[in-house]
Amino acid sequence: MANLNIQAGWTYHNATKHSHLSVRTNQHFLDWANQPLPFKIYPKLELIPLPRRFGEAGSPALDTIAEVARRDNAVPDLQNLSQLLYFSAGITRRRSWSGGEIYFRAAACTGALYEIELYLACATLPDLEAGLYHYAADEFGLRKLRAGDFRHLLVEATAHESSIVHAPLIVICTGTYWRNAWKYQARTYRHFGWDNGTILANLLAISMSLQLPAKIICGFVDATVNRLLDLDSEREVAFSLIPIGQVADSPPLPPEDISPLGLETVPLSRKEVDYPAMRAMHAASSLFSPEEVASWRGAALEVRLKEPAGEFTSLRPLADSEILRDFAEPVILRRGSTRQFARQPISFVQLSTILDRSTRGVSADFLDPFGAQLNDLYLIVNAVDGLPSGSYFFHRGRRGLELLKEGDFRSQAGDLGLEQELPADASVAVFFLADLESIFERYGNRGYRGVQLEAGIIGGKLYLAAYALHLGASGLTFYDDDVIEFFSPHARGKSAVFLVALGRSAKQSRTRA
Ligand SMILES: Cc1cc2nc3c(=O)[nH]c(=O)nc-3n(C[C@H](O)[C@H](O)[C@H](O)COP(=O)(O)O)c2cc1C
Repeated sequence: MANLNIQAGWTYHNATKHSHLSVRTNQHFLDWANQPLPFKIYPKLELIPLPRRFGEAGSPALDTIAEVARRDNAVPDLQNLSQLLYFSAGITRRRSWSGGEIYFRAAACTGALYEIELYLACATLPDLEAGLYHYAADEFGLRKLRAGDFRHLLVEATAHESSIVHAPLIVICTGTYWRNAWKYQARTYRHFGWDNGTILANLLAISMSLQLPAKIICGFVDATVNRLLDLDSEREVAFSLIPIGQVADSPPLPPEDISPLGLETVPLSRKEVDYPAMRAMHAASSLFSPEEVASWRGAALEVRLKEPAGEFTSLRPLADSEILRDFAEPVILRRGSTRQFARQPISFVQLSTILDRSTRGVSADFLDPFGAQLNDLYLIVNAVDGLPSGSYFFHRGRRGLELLKEGDFRSQAGDLGLEQELPADASVAVFFLADLESIFERYGNRGYRGVQLEAGIIGGKLYLAAYALHLGASGLTFYDDDVIEFFSPHARGKSAVFLVALGRSAKQSRTRA
Protein backbone atom coordinates (compact mmCIF):
# COMPACT_ATOMS: atom_id res chain seq x y z
CA MET A 1 0.00 0.00 0.00
CA ALA A 2 1.63 3.19 -1.27
CA ASN A 3 -0.07 5.23 1.45
CA LEU A 4 1.94 3.53 4.17
CA ASN A 5 5.29 4.24 2.55
CA ILE A 6 5.66 7.45 4.48
CA GLN A 7 9.17 8.05 3.25
CA ALA A 8 7.47 9.38 0.10
CA GLY A 9 5.55 11.92 2.19
CA TRP A 10 8.70 13.10 3.93
CA THR A 11 10.57 13.30 0.62
CA TYR A 12 7.91 15.62 -0.84
CA HIS A 13 7.67 17.72 2.29
CA ASN A 14 11.42 18.19 2.67
CA ALA A 15 11.94 18.87 -1.03
CA THR A 16 9.35 21.67 -1.02
CA LYS A 17 10.55 23.58 2.05
CA HIS A 18 11.39 27.22 1.61
CA SER A 19 14.66 28.42 3.09
CA HIS A 20 16.62 31.64 2.54
CA LEU A 21 18.98 29.60 0.38
CA SER A 22 16.30 27.82 -1.68
CA VAL A 23 14.51 31.10 -2.40
CA ARG A 24 17.74 32.89 -3.37
CA THR A 25 19.05 30.12 -5.59
CA ASN A 26 15.75 29.36 -7.35
CA GLN A 27 16.08 30.38 -11.01
CA HIS A 28 12.34 30.23 -11.60
CA PHE A 29 10.68 33.23 -13.24
CA LEU A 30 7.10 33.95 -14.24
CA ASP A 31 6.58 33.34 -17.95
CA TRP A 32 3.74 35.78 -18.47
CA ALA A 33 3.26 34.81 -22.10
CA ASN A 34 2.49 31.29 -20.92
CA GLN A 35 0.29 32.17 -17.94
CA PRO A 36 -2.43 29.52 -17.47
CA LEU A 37 -6.10 30.28 -17.89
CA PRO A 38 -7.73 30.56 -14.45
CA PHE A 39 -10.82 28.57 -15.56
CA LYS A 40 -11.56 25.13 -16.92
CA ILE A 41 -13.76 25.61 -19.98
CA TYR A 42 -15.70 22.92 -21.81
CA PRO A 43 -16.40 24.86 -25.03
CA LYS A 44 -18.81 22.38 -26.58
CA LEU A 45 -21.20 21.92 -23.65
CA GLU A 46 -24.23 24.07 -23.16
CA LEU A 47 -24.24 26.35 -20.10
CA ILE A 48 -27.01 26.01 -17.54
CA PRO A 49 -27.07 29.48 -15.93
CA LEU A 50 -27.38 29.59 -12.16
CA PRO A 51 -29.84 32.00 -10.52
CA ARG A 52 -28.10 35.11 -9.20
CA ARG A 53 -30.75 35.95 -6.66
CA PHE A 54 -30.10 34.44 -3.28
CA GLY A 55 -32.36 33.95 -0.29
CA GLU A 56 -32.45 36.61 2.40
CA ALA A 57 -32.27 34.26 5.38
CA GLY A 58 -28.93 33.70 7.00
CA SER A 59 -26.95 33.48 10.19
CA PRO A 60 -24.28 35.70 11.71
CA ALA A 61 -20.91 34.94 10.13
CA LEU A 62 -19.32 34.30 13.52
CA ASP A 63 -21.90 31.57 14.18
CA THR A 64 -21.60 29.99 10.76
CA ILE A 65 -17.85 29.41 11.12
CA ALA A 66 -18.21 27.90 14.59
CA GLU A 67 -21.10 25.48 14.18
CA VAL A 68 -22.39 22.75 11.89
CA ALA A 69 -25.98 22.25 10.78
CA ARG A 70 -27.70 19.09 11.99
CA ARG A 71 -31.01 18.60 10.21
CA ASP A 72 -32.77 15.60 8.69
CA ASN A 73 -34.55 15.79 5.35
CA ALA A 74 -32.46 18.71 4.18
CA VAL A 75 -32.44 18.99 0.40
CA PRO A 76 -30.83 21.99 -1.32
CA ASP A 77 -32.72 23.57 -4.20
CA LEU A 78 -31.13 25.32 -7.17
CA GLN A 79 -31.10 28.66 -5.38
CA ASN A 80 -29.31 27.13 -2.38
CA LEU A 81 -26.85 25.49 -4.74
CA SER A 82 -26.06 28.80 -6.48
CA GLN A 83 -25.59 30.44 -3.12
CA LEU A 84 -23.20 27.68 -2.00
CA LEU A 85 -21.16 27.90 -5.20
CA TYR A 86 -21.11 31.68 -5.49
CA PHE A 87 -19.96 32.36 -1.94
CA SER A 88 -17.29 29.67 -1.99
CA ALA A 89 -15.82 29.89 -5.49
CA GLY A 90 -17.69 32.66 -7.34
CA ILE A 91 -16.14 35.79 -8.82
CA THR A 92 -16.73 38.56 -6.33
CA ARG A 93 -14.40 41.30 -7.66
CA ARG A 94 -12.66 42.16 -10.94
CA ARG A 95 -9.56 44.31 -11.21
CA SER A 96 -7.85 45.54 -14.39
CA TRP A 97 -4.07 45.75 -14.62
CA SER A 98 -1.61 46.20 -17.48
CA GLY A 99 -1.58 42.43 -18.17
CA GLY A 100 -5.37 42.09 -18.37
CA GLU A 101 -8.07 41.51 -15.82
CA ILE A 102 -7.91 39.50 -12.56
CA TYR A 103 -11.08 37.83 -11.40
CA PHE A 104 -10.95 37.62 -7.64
CA ARG A 105 -13.02 34.95 -5.98
CA ALA A 106 -14.94 34.54 -2.76
CA ALA A 107 -12.09 32.64 -1.06
CA ALA A 108 -8.41 33.56 -0.84
CA CYS A 109 -6.05 31.63 -3.10
CA THR A 110 -2.28 31.56 -3.45
CA GLY A 111 -1.28 33.92 -6.24
CA ALA A 112 -4.95 34.36 -7.27
CA LEU A 113 -4.38 31.41 -9.60
CA TYR A 114 -7.52 29.47 -8.63
CA GLU A 115 -6.39 25.93 -9.33
CA ILE A 116 -9.32 24.32 -7.48
CA GLU A 117 -12.28 23.30 -9.66
CA LEU A 118 -15.71 22.31 -8.35
CA TYR A 119 -17.97 19.57 -9.71
CA LEU A 120 -21.30 18.24 -8.42
CA ALA A 121 -22.91 14.82 -8.32
CA CYS A 122 -26.55 15.08 -7.37
CA ALA A 123 -29.90 13.37 -7.18
CA THR A 124 -32.80 15.14 -8.84
CA LEU A 125 -33.04 18.39 -6.85
CA PRO A 126 -35.79 21.01 -7.05
CA ASP A 127 -35.08 22.68 -10.45
CA LEU A 128 -32.06 20.54 -11.33
CA GLU A 129 -31.96 17.11 -12.95
CA ALA A 130 -29.83 14.36 -11.48
CA GLY A 131 -26.39 14.50 -13.01
CA LEU A 132 -22.71 15.14 -12.82
CA TYR A 133 -21.91 18.80 -13.41
CA HIS A 134 -18.92 21.12 -13.68
CA TYR A 135 -19.21 24.55 -12.08
CA ALA A 136 -18.19 27.27 -14.55
CA ALA A 137 -17.11 30.08 -12.23
CA ASP A 138 -16.43 32.53 -15.08
CA GLU A 139 -19.97 32.30 -16.46
CA PHE A 140 -21.69 31.40 -13.20
CA GLY A 141 -23.37 28.31 -14.48
CA LEU A 142 -23.17 24.54 -14.69
CA ARG A 143 -22.24 22.23 -17.53
CA LYS A 144 -23.64 18.75 -17.47
CA LEU A 145 -20.93 16.14 -17.95
CA ARG A 146 -23.13 13.07 -17.40
CA ALA A 147 -26.92 12.71 -17.10
CA GLY A 148 -28.21 10.52 -14.26
CA ASP A 149 -27.54 9.85 -10.61
CA PHE A 150 -23.90 8.88 -10.03
CA ARG A 151 -23.77 9.28 -6.28
CA HIS A 152 -23.60 5.54 -5.71
CA LEU A 153 -20.13 5.49 -7.22
CA LEU A 154 -19.06 7.95 -4.54
CA VAL A 155 -20.70 5.78 -1.91
CA GLU A 156 -18.53 2.90 -3.11
CA ALA A 157 -15.44 5.08 -3.42
CA THR A 158 -15.83 6.20 0.20
CA ALA A 159 -16.58 2.70 1.55
CA HIS A 160 -20.15 3.68 2.46
CA GLU A 161 -19.26 6.82 4.42
CA SER A 162 -22.63 7.61 5.93
CA SER A 163 -22.69 11.35 5.12
CA ILE A 164 -22.14 10.45 1.44
CA VAL A 165 -24.78 7.71 1.51
CA HIS A 166 -27.41 10.18 2.69
CA ALA A 167 -26.42 13.31 0.77
CA PRO A 168 -28.61 14.50 -2.10
CA LEU A 169 -25.71 16.64 -3.31
CA ILE A 170 -21.97 15.95 -3.28
CA VAL A 171 -19.47 18.65 -4.23
CA ILE A 172 -16.19 17.29 -5.60
CA CYS A 173 -13.11 19.55 -5.48
CA THR A 174 -10.14 18.92 -7.73
CA GLY A 175 -6.70 20.49 -8.02
CA THR A 176 -5.12 21.37 -11.39
CA TYR A 177 -1.34 21.18 -11.02
CA TRP A 178 -0.14 23.49 -13.79
CA ARG A 179 -2.48 26.37 -13.00
CA ASN A 180 -0.71 26.95 -9.70
CA ALA A 181 2.69 25.36 -10.45
CA TRP A 182 3.24 27.98 -13.16
CA LYS A 183 4.21 30.22 -10.22
CA TYR A 184 4.84 27.95 -7.26
CA GLN A 185 6.42 24.89 -8.92
CA ALA A 186 6.34 21.67 -6.87
CA ARG A 187 5.08 23.44 -3.72
CA THR A 188 1.67 23.53 -5.41
CA TYR A 189 0.65 20.21 -3.89
CA ARG A 190 0.65 21.92 -0.48
CA HIS A 191 -1.38 24.74 -2.03
CA PHE A 192 -4.06 22.26 -3.12
CA GLY A 193 -4.83 21.77 0.57
CA TRP A 194 -4.62 25.47 1.46
CA ASP A 195 -6.63 26.79 -1.49
CA ASN A 196 -9.19 24.00 -1.29
CA GLY A 197 -9.41 24.68 2.44
CA THR A 198 -10.28 28.39 2.14
CA ILE A 199 -13.05 27.49 -0.32
CA LEU A 200 -14.33 24.88 2.12
CA ALA A 201 -14.35 27.34 5.03
CA ASN A 202 -16.79 29.44 2.99
CA LEU A 203 -18.76 26.43 1.78
CA LEU A 204 -19.18 25.19 5.35
CA ALA A 205 -20.25 28.65 6.51
CA ILE A 206 -22.89 28.97 3.79
CA SER A 207 -24.11 25.41 4.41
CA MET A 208 -24.55 26.34 8.04
CA SER A 209 -26.30 29.56 7.06
CA LEU A 210 -28.73 27.51 4.93
CA GLN A 211 -29.09 24.88 7.67
CA LEU A 212 -27.70 22.18 5.37
CA PRO A 213 -25.48 19.54 7.00
CA ALA A 214 -22.04 19.30 5.34
CA LYS A 215 -18.87 17.33 5.96
CA ILE A 216 -15.38 17.17 4.42
CA ILE A 217 -14.41 13.76 3.09
CA CYS A 218 -10.75 13.11 2.46
CA GLY A 219 -10.87 9.28 2.29
CA PHE A 220 -11.94 7.89 -1.08
CA VAL A 221 -10.64 5.63 -3.83
CA ASP A 222 -8.91 8.21 -6.00
CA ALA A 223 -9.15 6.37 -9.31
CA THR A 224 -12.94 5.91 -9.02
CA VAL A 225 -13.58 9.62 -8.49
CA ASN A 226 -11.08 10.71 -11.15
CA ARG A 227 -12.65 8.27 -13.61
CA LEU A 228 -16.16 9.52 -12.86
CA LEU A 229 -15.05 13.08 -13.67
CA ASP A 230 -12.99 11.78 -16.58
CA LEU A 231 -9.93 13.71 -15.39
CA ASP A 232 -6.53 13.41 -16.97
CA SER A 233 -5.05 12.56 -13.60
CA GLU A 234 -1.56 13.54 -14.70
CA ARG A 235 -2.90 17.11 -14.76
CA GLU A 236 -5.92 17.33 -12.46
CA VAL A 237 -6.93 15.19 -9.46
CA ALA A 238 -9.83 14.94 -7.03
CA PHE A 239 -8.84 16.27 -3.59
CA SER A 240 -11.95 16.42 -1.39
CA LEU A 241 -15.64 15.51 -1.41
CA ILE A 242 -18.32 17.44 0.44
CA PRO A 243 -21.69 15.75 0.97
CA ILE A 244 -24.37 18.42 1.48
CA GLY A 245 -27.86 17.92 2.86
CA GLN A 246 -29.40 14.81 4.38
CA VAL A 247 -32.05 12.36 3.17
CA ALA A 248 -33.10 8.97 4.52
CA ASP A 249 -32.72 7.10 1.22
CA SER A 250 -29.46 5.93 -0.23
CA PRO A 251 -28.75 6.48 -3.94
CA PRO A 252 -29.79 3.98 -6.60
CA LEU A 253 -27.20 1.97 -8.47
CA PRO A 254 -25.65 4.22 -11.13
CA PRO A 255 -26.26 3.90 -14.86
CA GLU A 256 -23.96 1.20 -16.26
CA ASP A 257 -22.11 3.62 -18.46
CA ILE A 258 -19.22 5.49 -16.92
CA SER A 259 -17.08 5.27 -19.96
CA PRO A 260 -14.55 8.04 -20.70
CA LEU A 261 -16.19 11.26 -21.87
CA GLY A 262 -13.39 12.58 -24.03
CA LEU A 263 -14.79 16.11 -23.72
CA GLU A 264 -12.83 18.95 -25.20
CA THR A 265 -11.47 21.59 -22.80
CA VAL A 266 -9.70 24.84 -23.66
CA PRO A 267 -5.90 24.44 -23.15
CA LEU A 268 -4.64 26.31 -20.07
CA SER A 269 -1.44 27.54 -21.72
CA ARG A 270 0.63 27.12 -24.84
CA LYS A 271 2.72 24.57 -22.98
CA GLU A 272 2.69 23.07 -19.51
CA VAL A 273 5.64 22.24 -17.29
CA ASP A 274 5.45 19.02 -15.32
CA TYR A 275 6.69 18.79 -11.73
CA PRO A 276 6.87 15.03 -11.09
CA ALA A 277 7.37 15.45 -7.32
CA MET A 278 3.71 16.44 -6.98
CA ARG A 279 2.40 13.55 -8.98
CA ALA A 280 4.62 11.24 -6.91
CA MET A 281 3.14 12.71 -3.70
CA HIS A 282 -0.35 12.29 -5.04
CA ALA A 283 0.27 8.67 -6.02
CA ALA A 284 1.88 7.98 -2.64
CA SER A 285 -1.15 9.39 -0.81
CA SER A 286 -3.72 7.62 -2.98
CA LEU A 287 -6.10 4.96 -1.69
CA PHE A 288 -6.76 2.06 -4.01
CA SER A 289 -9.76 0.10 -2.71
CA PRO A 290 -12.85 0.61 -0.53
CA GLU A 291 -11.24 -1.76 2.01
CA GLU A 292 -8.22 0.52 2.23
CA VAL A 293 -10.52 3.53 2.69
CA ALA A 294 -12.48 1.75 5.43
CA SER A 295 -9.35 0.88 7.36
CA TRP A 296 -7.94 4.41 6.88
CA ARG A 297 -11.04 6.03 8.32
CA GLY A 298 -11.65 6.03 12.07
CA ALA A 299 -10.78 7.96 15.15
CA ALA A 300 -8.59 10.98 14.59
CA LEU A 301 -5.04 11.14 15.78
CA GLU A 302 -5.17 12.01 19.43
CA VAL A 303 -2.91 14.95 20.02
CA ARG A 304 -1.63 15.18 23.56
CA LEU A 305 -0.82 18.78 24.36
CA LYS A 306 1.81 19.61 26.94
CA GLU A 307 0.66 21.29 30.15
CA PRO A 308 1.22 25.04 29.97
CA ALA A 309 4.57 25.89 31.53
CA GLY A 310 4.53 29.65 30.85
CA GLU A 311 2.11 32.33 31.94
CA PHE A 312 -1.41 31.36 30.82
CA THR A 313 -4.10 33.80 29.67
CA SER A 314 -7.63 32.53 29.05
CA LEU A 315 -9.41 33.75 25.94
CA ARG A 316 -12.05 36.44 26.49
CA PRO A 317 -14.28 36.12 23.41
CA LEU A 318 -17.43 38.11 22.82
CA ALA A 319 -20.43 36.38 24.38
CA ASP A 320 -23.07 34.94 22.05
CA SER A 321 -25.35 37.87 22.84
CA GLU A 322 -22.61 40.39 21.92
CA ILE A 323 -21.53 39.04 18.56
CA LEU A 324 -22.01 41.16 15.48
CA ARG A 325 -25.05 40.20 13.46
CA ASP A 326 -23.41 40.48 10.02
CA PHE A 327 -24.39 37.47 7.94
CA ALA A 328 -21.78 35.25 6.35
CA GLU A 329 -22.65 36.42 2.81
CA PRO A 330 -21.80 40.15 3.16
CA VAL A 331 -18.71 39.24 5.17
CA ILE A 332 -17.52 37.02 2.30
CA LEU A 333 -18.25 39.81 -0.18
CA ARG A 334 -16.09 42.30 1.69
CA ARG A 335 -13.28 39.80 2.33
CA GLY A 336 -10.05 40.30 0.47
CA SER A 337 -6.48 39.72 1.51
CA THR A 338 -5.12 42.74 3.34
CA ARG A 339 -2.27 44.15 1.23
CA GLN A 340 -0.89 46.37 4.00
CA PHE A 341 -1.52 46.30 7.72
CA ALA A 342 -1.59 49.46 9.82
CA ARG A 343 0.74 48.96 12.77
CA GLN A 344 -2.18 49.37 15.14
CA PRO A 345 -3.37 47.08 17.90
CA ILE A 346 -6.48 44.94 17.88
CA SER A 347 -8.14 44.16 21.20
CA PHE A 348 -7.67 40.93 23.14
CA VAL A 349 -11.44 40.39 22.88
CA GLN A 350 -11.16 40.53 19.09
CA LEU A 351 -8.23 38.09 19.03
CA SER A 352 -10.05 35.80 21.46
CA THR A 353 -13.23 35.84 19.38
CA ILE A 354 -11.33 35.04 16.17
CA LEU A 355 -9.45 32.12 17.76
CA ASP A 356 -12.45 30.81 19.65
CA ARG A 357 -14.85 30.80 16.71
CA SER A 358 -12.35 29.45 14.18
CA THR A 359 -11.16 26.47 16.20
CA ARG A 360 -14.31 24.87 17.57
CA GLY A 361 -14.11 22.05 15.06
CA VAL A 362 -14.30 20.99 11.44
CA SER A 363 -16.69 18.25 10.42
CA ALA A 364 -14.41 15.89 8.49
CA ASP A 365 -13.87 12.15 8.13
CA PHE A 366 -10.29 12.48 9.39
CA LEU A 367 -11.26 14.68 12.37
CA ASP A 368 -13.56 12.40 14.29
CA PRO A 369 -14.84 13.24 16.90
CA PHE A 370 -15.82 16.80 16.00
CA GLY A 371 -13.29 19.13 17.60
CA ALA A 372 -10.23 16.98 16.81
CA GLN A 373 -7.48 19.06 15.21
CA LEU A 374 -4.16 18.17 13.55
CA ASN A 375 -2.61 21.65 13.42
CA ASP A 376 -1.34 23.46 16.50
CA LEU A 377 -1.50 27.24 16.48
CA TYR A 378 1.52 29.30 17.54
CA LEU A 379 1.28 33.08 17.61
CA ILE A 380 3.58 36.04 17.34
CA VAL A 381 1.67 38.84 19.01
CA ASN A 382 2.91 42.23 17.79
CA ALA A 383 0.15 44.51 19.01
CA VAL A 384 -2.85 43.33 20.99
CA ASP A 385 -4.30 45.60 23.67
CA GLY A 386 -4.31 43.69 26.95
CA LEU A 387 -1.78 41.04 25.93
CA PRO A 388 1.99 41.48 26.19
CA SER A 389 3.82 41.20 22.85
CA GLY A 390 5.66 37.94 22.40
CA SER A 391 5.33 34.39 21.16
CA TYR A 392 2.48 32.18 22.34
CA PHE A 393 1.06 28.66 22.06
CA PHE A 394 -2.70 28.30 21.75
CA HIS A 395 -4.06 25.58 24.09
CA ARG A 396 -7.27 24.84 22.23
CA GLY A 397 -8.61 22.46 24.89
CA ARG A 398 -8.08 25.04 27.62
CA ARG A 399 -9.11 27.93 25.37
CA GLY A 400 -6.14 30.08 26.28
CA LEU A 401 -2.68 31.25 25.33
CA GLU A 402 0.58 30.21 26.94
CA LEU A 403 3.32 32.80 26.79
CA LEU A 404 6.48 31.21 25.36
CA LYS A 405 8.66 34.31 25.14
CA GLU A 406 7.84 37.94 25.83
CA GLY A 407 9.27 40.61 23.53
CA ASP A 408 8.97 42.53 20.30
CA PHE A 409 9.26 40.02 17.45
CA ARG A 410 7.93 42.12 14.58
CA SER A 411 11.08 41.84 12.51
CA GLN A 412 11.32 38.07 13.14
CA ALA A 413 7.66 37.69 12.11
CA GLY A 414 8.42 39.46 8.82
CA ASP A 415 11.49 37.33 8.26
CA LEU A 416 9.67 34.05 8.96
CA GLY A 417 6.92 35.06 6.50
CA LEU A 418 9.32 34.96 3.58
CA GLU A 419 10.74 38.40 4.40
CA GLN A 420 7.41 40.12 3.69
CA GLU A 421 6.11 43.13 5.55
CA LEU A 422 2.63 41.74 6.14
CA PRO A 423 3.41 39.61 9.23
CA ALA A 424 5.69 42.32 10.65
CA ASP A 425 3.01 45.00 10.32
CA ALA A 426 0.10 42.78 11.38
CA SER A 427 -1.17 42.72 14.97
CA VAL A 428 -0.78 38.95 15.15
CA ALA A 429 0.83 36.27 12.98
CA VAL A 430 -0.78 32.85 13.47
CA PHE A 431 1.52 29.97 12.52
CA PHE A 432 0.14 26.47 11.98
CA LEU A 433 2.51 23.69 13.03
CA ALA A 434 1.90 19.96 13.05
CA ASP A 435 3.49 16.79 14.30
CA LEU A 436 3.88 15.27 10.85
CA GLU A 437 5.60 12.16 12.21
CA SER A 438 2.50 11.16 14.20
CA ILE A 439 0.18 12.23 11.38
CA PHE A 440 2.03 10.02 8.88
CA GLU A 441 1.97 7.18 11.41
CA ARG A 442 -1.80 7.42 11.90
CA TYR A 443 -3.00 8.30 8.38
CA GLY A 444 -0.09 7.38 6.10
CA ASN A 445 0.69 9.89 3.36
CA ARG A 446 -3.01 10.70 3.08
CA GLY A 447 -2.56 12.56 6.36
CA TYR A 448 -0.49 15.11 4.46
CA ARG A 449 -3.54 16.02 2.39
CA GLY A 450 -5.58 16.17 5.60
CA VAL A 451 -3.23 18.42 7.55
CA GLN A 452 -2.87 20.91 4.66
CA LEU A 453 -6.63 20.90 4.07
CA GLU A 454 -7.41 21.45 7.74
CA ALA A 455 -4.95 24.36 7.81
CA GLY A 456 -6.67 25.92 4.80
CA ILE A 457 -10.08 25.51 6.40
CA ILE A 458 -9.06 27.00 9.74
CA GLY A 459 -7.12 29.68 7.88
CA GLY A 460 -10.25 30.45 5.86
CA LYS A 461 -12.24 30.68 9.09
CA LEU A 462 -9.66 33.09 10.53
CA TYR A 463 -10.17 35.28 7.45
CA LEU A 464 -13.96 35.23 7.89
CA ALA A 465 -13.83 35.87 11.63
CA ALA A 466 -11.45 38.80 11.13
CA TYR A 467 -13.64 40.33 8.41
CA ALA A 468 -16.76 39.76 10.50
CA LEU A 469 -15.07 41.98 13.11
CA HIS A 470 -14.13 44.55 10.42
CA LEU A 471 -10.46 43.61 10.66
CA GLY A 472 -8.11 42.36 7.96
CA ALA A 473 -6.27 39.10 7.27
CA SER A 474 -3.89 37.56 4.79
CA GLY A 475 -2.61 34.04 4.18
CA LEU A 476 1.17 33.88 3.83
CA THR A 477 3.94 31.56 2.98
CA PHE A 478 6.98 31.00 5.22
CA TYR A 479 10.49 29.66 5.76
CA ASP A 480 9.72 26.18 7.05
CA ASP A 481 12.60 25.31 9.34
CA ASP A 482 13.11 28.85 10.61
CA VAL A 483 9.52 28.84 11.92
CA ILE A 484 10.22 25.67 13.92
CA GLU A 485 13.49 27.07 15.22
CA PHE A 486 11.77 30.28 16.32
CA PHE A 487 9.12 28.47 18.37
CA SER A 488 11.51 25.87 19.80
CA PRO A 489 12.06 24.26 22.19
CA HIS A 490 8.23 24.07 22.41
CA ALA A 491 7.85 23.28 18.70
CA ARG A 492 10.79 20.92 18.33
CA GLY A 493 9.93 17.92 16.13
CA LYS A 494 6.98 19.65 14.44
CA SER A 495 6.70 20.95 10.88
CA ALA A 496 5.43 24.30 9.61
CA VAL A 497 2.19 24.04 7.64
CA PHE A 498 0.53 27.44 7.20
CA LEU A 499 0.54 31.11 8.23
CA VAL A 500 -2.15 33.79 8.52
CA ALA A 501 -1.60 37.41 9.56
CA LEU A 502 -4.38 39.33 11.32
CA GLY A 503 -4.76 43.03 12.07
CA ARG A 504 -6.14 46.34 10.93
CA SER A 505 -5.75 47.13 7.27
CA ALA A 506 -3.88 50.34 6.51
CA LYS A 507 -6.46 51.22 3.84
CA GLN A 508 -9.33 50.99 6.31
CA SER A 509 -7.43 52.98 8.91
CA ARG A 510 -6.73 55.74 6.34
CA THR A 511 -10.41 55.83 5.32
CA ARG A 512 -11.47 56.15 8.94
CA ALA A 513 -8.91 58.85 9.76
C1 LIG B 1 -2.50 30.06 1.61
C2 LIG B 1 -2.30 31.46 1.14
C3 LIG B 1 -1.02 31.98 1.09
C4 LIG B 1 -0.83 33.29 0.67
N1 LIG B 1 0.44 33.81 0.66
C5 LIG B 1 0.63 35.11 0.36
C6 LIG B 1 1.92 35.69 0.48
O1 LIG B 1 2.89 35.01 0.84
N2 LIG B 1 2.03 37.01 0.21
C7 LIG B 1 0.97 37.78 -0.18
O2 LIG B 1 1.14 38.98 -0.41
N3 LIG B 1 -0.28 37.24 -0.29
C8 LIG B 1 -0.47 35.94 -0.02
N4 LIG B 1 -1.74 35.38 -0.11
C9 LIG B 1 -2.88 36.20 -0.54
C10 LIG B 1 -3.25 35.91 -2.00
O3 LIG B 1 -2.35 36.55 -2.84
C11 LIG B 1 -4.68 36.36 -2.26
O4 LIG B 1 -5.55 35.50 -1.58
C12 LIG B 1 -5.04 36.35 -3.73
O5 LIG B 1 -4.32 37.33 -4.44
C13 LIG B 1 -6.52 36.57 -3.94
O6 LIG B 1 -6.91 37.81 -3.40
P1 LIG B 1 -8.00 38.00 -2.27
O7 LIG B 1 -7.63 37.12 -1.13
O8 LIG B 1 -7.94 39.46 -1.94
O9 LIG B 1 -9.32 37.61 -2.84
C14 LIG B 1 -1.94 34.07 0.27
C15 LIG B 1 -3.22 33.51 0.31
C16 LIG B 1 -3.40 32.23 0.72
C17 LIG B 1 -4.79 31.64 0.75
